[in-house]
Amino acid sequence: MSNNVLVMGSFVADLAFRAARLPAWGETLMGDSFALGPGGKGSNQAVAAARAGANVRFMSKLGDDAFGQLARDLWSADGIDASLVGTCPIPTGAAAILIDSVRGENAIIVVPGACFTLTPNDVDEEHEAIQATGVFLTQLELPLDTVQRGLEIARAAGVVTILNPAPAPTSPLPDALIALADYFIPNETEAALLTGLTVETVEQAELAADSLIARGARNVVLTLGSRGSLLRTAGGQSTLIPSFSAGPVVETTGAGDAFCGAFAAALAEGRSAEDAARFASACAGISVTRHGTAPSMPQRAEIEALLTA
Ligand code: ATP
Ligand code: RIB
Repeated sequence: MSNNVLVMGSFVADLAFRAARLPAWGETLMGDSFALGPGGKGSNQAVAAARAGANVRFMSKLGDDAFGQLARDLWSADGIDASLVGTCPIPTGAAAILIDSVRGENAIIVVPGACFTLTPNDVDEEHEAIQATGVFLTQLELPLDTVQRGLEIARAAGVVTILNPAPAPTSPLPDALIALADYFIPNETEAALLTGLTVETVEQAELAADSLIARGARNVVLTLGSRGSLLRTAGGQSTLIPSFSAGPVVETTGAGDAFCGAFAAALAEGRSAEDAARFASACAGISVTRHGTAPSMPQRAEIEALLTA
């Protein structure tokens, strides 16, 4: 394999507020800390993949503004090829991330802004880049028809496709879209929403994964937070991949992105899905010990050290 990963997705600026609890409606609460940093599921996953060792190209759109510059500086520092990122008159988006520092939970509002203007036509224009990559990875912070077009081009070219159906869709996801995924990677909430099933135990996760495979996904990797992840193949084989403890957990926002980016990087190297999921689990296990989303993604040497510890 080529070691090449093309990520198509969002960039937004993350505005993260930490407080001892979340405010009630109408309430103003004094918080503990604030941080402004790079985010967006697509860009976070691209950063995770690049730090994990892949050659990464990113496809998206940015506004001509300070948040757009934040993105370009990040990608340049991480060696991510941003030649497929256009600039448009719409401002770059932002995410308000409220973190409950006691319970470790978060609530997020994301306004995608510029990246949401990426159209199927834009994707068509870059079809050669998609056809030339080893692994194509995308999420749902873009218009659905754009996501679908990217996956269609990749599938038709025999490129390995990964769809992370996040954030959880508010309307049913067409089976035609699910069927374009070689690897479909939902978390428990997304899997429950997409299947209408309860996803709390590993057995329930297996049933949800089977339901997604019945709808066309070739393989499902259902992430289970601190319990790790479940790899379920179309052949009906299940493997439970444990999570890794790399120190005290300070912020889990972006754990799913760390997992997806590292999983894509490992698949692009030709590793098996099980090896790739272990590598991804170690990457995500380190990311939760650090603040921020993209800034929390570890380097490959750190992932390897944890895997061999
Ligand atoms: P988020 O939305 O917070 O970015 P997610 O809900 O999409 O994350 P999770 O299932 O919570 O995804 O986590 C993804 C992966 O990250 C898990 O499969 C696991 O490998 C790792 N992970 C998550 N939480 C922890 C934790 N507390 N300790 C170690 N690893 C964790
Ligand atoms: O997955 C975490 C990301 O979701 C954050 O970086 C935020 O930007 C939201 O899009």
